Amino acid sequence: MKRLVPGLIALTVVFCLGSAPVSAQDAAAGGALFKQKCSPCHQVTGLGIKGVYPALAGDPFVVGDDKIVAKTVLLGRGGMPSFLPVLTDQQIADVLTYVRSSWGNKGSPVPPADVAEVRGQVPQSEQKDKGN
Ligand code: HEC
Repeated sequence: MKRLVPGLIALTVVFCLGSAPVSAQDAAAGGALFKQKCSPCHQVTGLGIKGVYPALAGDPFVVGDDKIVAKTVLLGRGGMPSFLPVLTDQQIADVLTYVRSSWGNKGSPVPPADVAEVRGQVPQSEQKDKGN
């Protein structure tokens, strides 16, 4: 049993990374999140599915104003769900930092403070309505 303990602690840490803000998270954590939360639609290649899910690779919008991109992910748009109740500011910052620096994209990293600022501007009523 004693030898199990370090393994259990490591496992717990791995599971917590998925749900809690962790200061050491970076683009690598963003990559894991992208795979989990975004690739079902946008695909691991970032190329999406033509006519259904837009490509994020080579998309000028994605590497543009980070607060506008963060707002899109927070609120969702069209066929894309809102991630406001699902992901923390840190997680959205990480996933967007990953998206903006992958597949040849060359956007700046997204600070969690920028995501927090946009989240703070979303009216309370809108925050409550988004249940997914
Ligand atoms: C259920 C499918 C789905 C999932 C999951 C999804 N998206 Fe989307 N996403 C879409 C669709 C559909 C659009 C286009 C919306 C529209 O028509 O305006 C879109 C649009 C976007 C855009 C805007 C692209 C542009 O050029 O306007 C960004 C950025 C984006 N998604 C990022 C993400 C990120 C990051 C994640 C994961 C946290 C994610 N999406 C998860 C379906 C999805």
